[in-house]
Amino acid sequence: MPPLVSDPARPNGAAAASQDDDIIIRVEDVTVRFGENTILDNLSLDVRRGEILGFVGPSGSGKSVLLRTILGLNQKQGGTIDVFGINYPEASDDDRLAVERRWGVLFQHGALFSSLTVLENIEVPMREYLDLSPALMHELARLKLDLVGLPQDAAGKFPSELSGGMIKRAALARALALDPDVVFLDEPTSGLDPIGAADFDQLIMTLRDTLGLSVYMVTHDLDSLFQACDRIAVLGDGKVLVEGPLSTMLAFDHPWVKSYFHGKRARTIVAPENAGHAQEGIV
Ligand SMILES: Nc1ncnc2c1ncn2[C@@H]1O[C@H](COP(=O)(O)OP(=O)(O)OP(=O)(O)O)[C@@H](O)[C@H]1O
Ligand SMILES: [Mg+2]
Repeated sequence: MPPLVSDPARPNGAAAASQDDDIIIRVEDVTVRFGENTILDNLSLDVRRGEILGFVGPSGSGKSVLLRTILGLNQKQGGTIDVFGINYPEASDDDRLAVERRWGVLFQHGALFSSLTVLENIEVPMREYLDLSPALMHELARLKLDLVGLPQDAAGKFPSELSGGMIKRAALARALALDPDVVFLDEPTSGLDPIGAADFDQLIMTLRDTLGLSVYMVTHDLDSLFQACDRIAVLGDGKVLVEGPLSTMLAFDHPWVKSYFHGKRARTIVAPENAGHAQEGIV
């Protein structure tokens, strides 16, 4: 993996540098409006290297908008977004390209191109960003299939021939096509049965551990938040209401956060004997 790009604006002090080196994405005071409608209101959030960050909030609160804004797909009306120390999307074309080669994305909708096979889908980012021979691309794409636990015979199939779980894995394989340092996953386990979702969470954790990936995961899935995420951030009123480990969520006094993390569904996951365990360090 290439070394992190250093931030010219970063202070030279060793302590400040080591603290900052762990932050790979820094969102500061970002505001996004659509017409009169303010979706993100001076929102700030850091993503740290090697963590699985779960991003949660009510439907329509702006989770996907923030993700798309970080990716430069939505205009922002204020604030800054630094990715690997580069002020993206205001950076030069070369710097933007350097950033784009280091991230992978699994979008909430339309995960794969329906007219392309799985292998061709995985090769899309390679065609866009790398100059490789077709044979090498096929070989690398097949390695990604292995990495996400898909059988090799999935390579020639079209998305319509795959199960929901296989589509998610194929989309993850495409997100991993460029060996990224960070992947953005928007609702990766939605629509999967609980066992399929748990398998997917396990896969994400394994990839984080083996590849050193950082993961930014938008999710409604309480199991994912409880089992896979190192840190959770909650979006509400256009801002991050609270961020921290699960224990912070469980202790936070806010109506939505309380009903989400202490609701009936949450209680079945965090049985009393697990709650203590969770607070001790699962998350
Ligand atoms: N391109 C756009 N133009 C206008 N409004 C938009 C646009 N994209 C999103 N919005 C609005 O921004 C708000 C937040 O949408 P967003 O998709 O980010 O929600 P979300 O938190 O991801 O919800 P969900 O959990 O249902 O996926 C919604 O009110 C949506 O209608
Ligand atoms: Mg969304």
